[in-house]
Amino acid sequence: MKTEELKHAFYTTFGEEADALFFSPGRINLIGEHTDYNGGHVFPAAITLGTYGAAKKRSDRTLRFYSANFEEAGIIEVSLDHLTFDKADSWTNYAKGVLKFLQEAGHRIDSGMDVFIYGNIPNGSGLSSSASLELLIGIIAEELFDLEVTRLDLVKIGKQTENDFIGVNSGIMDQFAIGMGADNKAIYLDTNTLDYDLVPLDLGDNVIVIMNTNKRRELADSKYNERRSECETALSELQTKLAIKTLGDLDLETFDEYSYLIKEENRIKRARHAVSENQRTLEARKALEAGNLERFGRLMNASHVSLEHDYEVTGLELDTLVHTAWQQEGVLGARMTGAGFGGCGIAIVKKDKVEDFKTAVGKRYVEVVGYAPDFYVAEIASGSKVLSHK
Ligand code: GLA
Repeated sequence: MKTEELKHAFYTTFGEEADALFFSPGRINLIGEHTDYNGGHVFPAAITLGTYGAAKKRSDRTLRFYSANFEEAGIIEVSLDHLTFDKADSWTNYAKGVLKFLQEAGHRIDSGMDVFIYGNIPNGSGLSSSASLELLIGIIAEELFDLEVTRLDLVKIGKQTENDFIGVNSGIMDQFAIGMGADNKAIYLDTNTLDYDLVPLDLGDNVIVIMNTNKRRELADSKYNERRSECETALSELQTKLAIKTLGDLDLETFDEYSYLIKEENRIKRARHAVSENQRTLEARKALEAGNLERFGRLMNASHVSLEHDYEVTGLELDTLVHTAWQQEGVLGARMTGAGFGGCGIAIVKKDKVEDFKTAVGKRYVEVVGYAPDFYVAEIASGSKVLSHK
């Protein structure tokens, strides 16, 4: 969306000029899936698909929100003095959570505001539209109310909103990638220490193709929480003999030696994924830095295999896309990305093979699943930012 259009849309919605304009990206994850809440490494990147915002301070304590993606909901009004979760307030709950936790952290938000948003991340696609929105609201408040808040604090407040306001026990990866992203860089993050490096994403003649199953991840949240608690139980079983704080502290050999402590098969598989995926993520960074894209691609494939068989978060739609991608000429690697159960996969594809790739994978997907997937070439973007200041 162009800034002129954004300004105009704010004006037609609220009848006044916006104070400032904003953009917050979505994210893909190259590798390191379901490792962030297990104390492991992740390797995501922010993308140019994201959420645009325009906002203006008000003189009273009313918050008015309008999303061009949910026109039927109209303007949703809430009071700055009643920042509680209410299902009827739909997407604005994310905004309420962020504002509530900002205030609880001691930041002074002294009036209401009008906020217009428009997002081009496909709904329910697993490219983190919710974290994108959380960080967007964070930077809007920072700009309009001159808050002295660090980017890392905004990232943590986004996660807190997801965990304690919305009720999804997610890790920090999405908010971190969206808040900290940089052009053409992937973020190699240790979720234990929050140390991170920006690694150049140099893919030579290749691009990253996002493959959208167009299957909404409806059951995702409850399944997500279930996986998380399976890992927690496995960890406590291992802790009866091992002095570890997280599954991310283990290498695969040690895990293997002590896996007899885990009393149930599913939990063994879940924990094995967390450990092996963490190891693959370390290796993938090395491969990328060494320019060994073939190995990087194979590690992505291995990640999918582990998510399919050990973690069991893929399903027919993602498996069809990824397995078909593996068979195409010019593909270095492919896997699901994000939480799974639907949403998107990614593939690293030779530039001049992208059109053939889309045709072949799209055709097979329609045959198996019965409706079409979508494809987008990912562009790696910088983190949430102010587009025009007040
Ligand atoms: C979702 C969560 C993240 C992460 C991924 C799986 O995107 O929000 O914290 O756990 O799933 O890697």
